[in-house]
Amino acid sequence: MITCVGVGPGDKKHITNYAIELVSDADVAVGFEYVLKIVQTYLKPNTKTCILTYKNQVTILEEIAKLHHQGLKVVVVFMGDIHFSGFQLLERVELACGHNVETIPGISSSQILASRTRVCFDETSFITFHRRGNIEPFKKHLISILNDNRNAIIIPRPFDFMPKDIASFLLENGINSTHKVEVWENLTQAESCWSGLLKDLNQDFSDLSIMLIRCLVPLTSQL
Ligand SMILES: C[S@@+](CC[C@H](N)C(=O)[O-])C[C@H]1O[C@@H](n2cnc3c(N)ncnc32)[C@H](O)[C@@H]1O
Repeated sequence: MITCVGVGPGDKKHITNYAIELVSDADVAVGFEYVLKIVQTYLKPNTKTCILTYKNQVTILEEIAKLHHQGLKVVVVFMGDIHFSGFQLLERVELACGHNVETIPGISSSQILASRTRVCFDETSFITFHRRGNIEPFKKHLISILNDNRNAIIIPRPFDFMPKDIASFLLENGINSTHKVEVWENLTQAESCWSGLLKDLNQDFSDLSIMLIRCLVPLTSQL
């Protein structure tokens, strides 16, 4: 059996009981090192752990797919929730297994951000640039989100489309420079937050950062 499970944004308080149950019962636990660390204390001493890297992931996933087909209980751990910025890894797991696998949701960094910044999902769109391949269609989509007067919760792409690049891109494309922006790092752990206007965003942030661009006219007050 193989299960893909979201294990939250970092702090143990945000791992679901179901994720703990699955991880504690696993014969094999697979994931990126940072994510495996989140659940390490719940693994049995004899659970085999397989650390994924961007380079080895295809080979490792083929190996663990074999273990799954041999009847071992394999759990693939995902950062936050699988269903936000996790599908490229999910697709690789399913390709290796040759069939669809079960996905168990977790608490996403985007939910923690919404809570810290007090925005409601109804008026917010979610977009990730943390993906392989062409991000141009997603950039266009971000412009339309803001032009539709919705908040945007954004996962940047490490190295080449970080918050300051996103801000420059939006300003070059005519987005109002007075949008309020927040960038949060290390949510649920050693958190830090930058807040200001889109035009003032030119700082560097770590890979573990997530961004909110508020709509210009909040709708929640229009009762
Ligand atoms: C591949 S995406 C996975 C997102 C994850 N599925 C989720 O729901 O949070 C990884 C990116 O999510 C963001 N992220 C995840 N956890 C975070 C945290 N605790 N604080 C800030 N950003 C976080 C960062 O931008 C990180 O590079």
